[in-house]
Amino acid sequence: MKSRPVLTLIAAVSADGFISTGHGVPWDLPKDREHFRSVTRGQWLLIGRRTYQEMLGWFQAGHHPLILTRNPNYTPPVGQAVADLESALEAATQGGARELFVCGGGAAYSAAMPRADRLILTHVGTHLHAGVPFPALDPGIWRVVSRLESPADAENPFGMVFAAHQRYSPQNQAIDSQS
Ligand SMILES: NC(=O)c1ccc[n+]([C@@H]2O[C@H](COP(=O)([O-])OP(=O)(O)OC[C@H]3O[C@@H](n4cnc5c(N)ncnc54)[C@H](OP(=O)(O)O)[C@@H]3O)[C@@H](O)[C@H]2O)c1
Repeated sequence: MKSRPVLTLIAAVSADGFISTGHGVPWDLPKDREHFRSVTRGQWLLIGRRTYQEMLGWFQAGHHPLILTRNPNYTPPVGQAVADLESALEAATQGGARELFVCGGGAAYSAAMPRADRLILTHVGTHLHAGVPFPALDPGIWRVVSRLESPADAENPFGMVFAAHQRYSPQNQAIDSQS
């Protein structure tokens, strides 16, 4: 039996926890775009229907986009529609995916967060004050496993921290408490 892929959320999040002010990506950060492109190259992607419509034209050969929608009649021009997270995991499993990357937006992140294994977050050094939130991170569940600071520069108006978070399982907890 094929095992289910690792479920990873990838997002860029403002210092006050938002991913967007309502439409489109709220910053112009070439370094983060390159990071997103390189992490998701050739991967299985789960994308909310609204974000998918913003991303049309971006997909490249090797991407496997799954589009989350409640509309049973929606036929995406690229990729495959799925009705829920379970169907997405099933499609990715059957396709032989080792990892499924949830690429947003807010509704897709909320649907996937309870079952996520990994978070790849770009913490952007600016405040949006309102908009589409990223789900709250419970510090009792998530542990930072890597962190890379990238200061603002001529092309990137805000500093960023590229961080990977791993779900902290009871198994890890048992190992930690012995050391
Ligand atoms: N900063 C970042 O990293 C980042 C990343 C991605 C997106 N974004 C931004 O996020 C914003 C969009 O977020 P959003 O929350 O409005 O929309 P979204 O998550 O992109 O898409 C919402 C749509 O997905 C479908 N959907 C959502 N939850 C579902 C569920 N549980 N089961 C089945 N279908 C479901 C529905 O489609 P139907 O209406 O077709 O049923 C819903 O209307 C945009 O501004 C985008 O630019 C930011």
